[in-house]
Amino acid sequence: MLATHGLLLRVFVLTLSVSVTWIALSTRGAVELGESKTTAADAKLADGLAAWEQVYSVLTSPRCINCHTATNYPQQGDDRHRHFANIIRGPEGKGVPALNCVSCHQEVNADSTGVPGGHNWHLAPLSMRWQDLNDQALSSSAVCRAVTDRARNENMDGRALLKHHEDAALVLWAWNPGRRPDGTTRTLPPLTHAEFVAATRLWVEAGTPCPRTK
Ligand code: HEC
Ligand code: HEC
Repeated sequence: MLATHGLLLRVFVLTLSVSVTWIALSTRGAVELGESKTTAADAKLADGLAAWEQVYSVLTSPRCINCHTATNYPQQGDDRHRHFANIIRGPEGKGVPALNCVSCHQEVNADSTGVPGGHNWHLAPLSMRWQDLNDQALSSSAVCRAVTDRARNENMDGRALLKHHEDAALVLWAWNPGRRPDGTTRTLPPLTHAEFVAATRLWVEAGTPCPRTK
């Protein structure tokens, strides 16, 4: 009787410890699985944010930001000085009737006179400004928020932004910016167009994350 009891007890204890071990192991497995999912999401976010910094370096380069001003005038040159001849924004970013942009800027660059050209040449709306009133480029997170705010960007989602970067005429112009009136060629953005599109794609696939600070 006692011996049987002892055996039953031992079997019970053994079963118990096996189950405890099994539960412990399987929970650890679950925790590890959860962790690896988080790590993958973190990596994607980190890649997306790194890709955004590349995109930002292009957006704030002179060929782009000269048209994305916060003031009532476009800018010129790598030092981003105010456009000559007192050119002003006008109601739709196209200048004023007596002196609108397309009276000088044609569909293509006019290299003999140094006037850059592209389809429907005009200033980006103020909602798409990437600088402050002192002509300083906004921070990476502020530009990111402006570009992704669908109330300010003509309702563009990530796909639409990618497409804009791939084939908008005024974006493409930045990689074919022509000659200045003094005959020198304008400088290019810091990435090639293909690199810029690839960085935009990575950022869009990560869900267009924006840096939190600043
Ligand atoms: C000649 C002026 C001009 C230049 C140069 C220019 N843009 Fe723009 N950009 C515009 C205008 C105007 C819009 C408004 C939408 C439209 O009419 O195409 C715009 C809109 C945009 C938008 C839409 C979203 C938003 O919130 O701003 C993006 C993104 C953009 N431009 C990127 C660029 C990049 C990148 C470059 C340089 C590689 C560039 N732009 C150069 C005039 C310009
Ligand atoms: C009187 C003719 C004239 C008018 C009108 C005019 N521009 Fe220009 N623009 C020029 C010339 C010439 C240049 C080249 C100046 C240089 O590179 O030194 C130029 C250069 C620019 C550049 C600089 C490109 C760069 O990255 O350096 C931008 C941007 C620009 N114009 C935007 C506009 C916009 C927007 C309007 C209308 C609101 C406009 N311009 C109206 C003649 C004009």
